[in-house]
Amino acid sequence: MIHPHFLLPLRRARLYVWFIRRSGFMSTHVRIERYTSLPSTEALKAGLECVFFTSSNTQVFSSDDARSKFKERWLGRYLQHDPHYAYVALSEMNDVVGYLIGSTDDPAITSRFADLAYDQTFGALSQNYPAHLHVNIAPHHRGCGLGAELIERFVADLRKGCVPGVHVVTSKNARNVGFYNRNGFREIAANGVGEREFVLLARKL
Ligand SMILES: CC(C)(COP(=O)(O)OP(=O)(O)OC[C@H]1O[C@@H](n2cnc3c(N)ncnc32)[C@H](O)[C@@H]1OP(=O)(O)O)[C@@H](O)C(=O)NCCC(=O)NCCS
Repeated sequence: MIHPHFLLPLRRARLYVWFIRRSGFMSTHVRIERYTSLPSTEALKAGLECVFFTSSNTQVFSSDDARSKFKERWLGRYLQHDPHYAYVALSEMNDVVGYLIGSTDDPAITSRFADLAYDQTFGALSQNYPAHLHVNIAPHHRGCGLGAELIERFVADLRKGCVPGVHVVTSKNARNVGFYNRNGFREIAANGVGEREFVLLARKL
């Protein structure tokens, strides 16, 4: 049997994480800026790319071209086409520690997103939640409420624009499903099997 004394540090660590999350401790050291309000510097570009590639499930690419297309698909085109729906989390040192990019265009019916096969498979189901987003936080800044803050910034702008709803598609077993649920997203549909099982999570606005 494990002696209770050995469990104490574990309990303290859990309490500490809980306190940081509830108090928003980290967010006092990190600020969220609109992408369009930031000077377009190489450091900003490199910071966004760094968080993007660190957070990505895909880490190995067949060529530089494949890597570059991947970045364009999941990051570049959003910054170019929908820069006003991009938000950047910056540390006190102005390092990029997270971002959210989004669009009000429903990928299921928008030609420039025709390559998002998983979204296409849900067809008309996303029509009441046309906006969609991608959010990523640098590993050492996760679990502190930053992702939730970024979602609320996007949602506030969507409401101002009278957008009826927002959705994301993620893997059914991904850890981020809990994050989206806690931020008001509910499962609307699922398809695929095993590791390729996707869920459409949506939030009415
Ligand atoms: C998902 C993510 C954006 C949430 O941002 P955050 O600031 O960490 O979120 P919050 O502090 O508000 O909430 C914490 C929750 O985020 C999720 N999360 C934390 N680390 C995660 C990780 N490495 N991978 C996936 N989800 C993670 C969990 O749901 C966590 O809750 P839990 O500890 O009870 O499981 C962020 O963790 C992240 O960038 N994860 C990796 C990339 C990713 O999954 N992006 C979303 C793609 S759809």
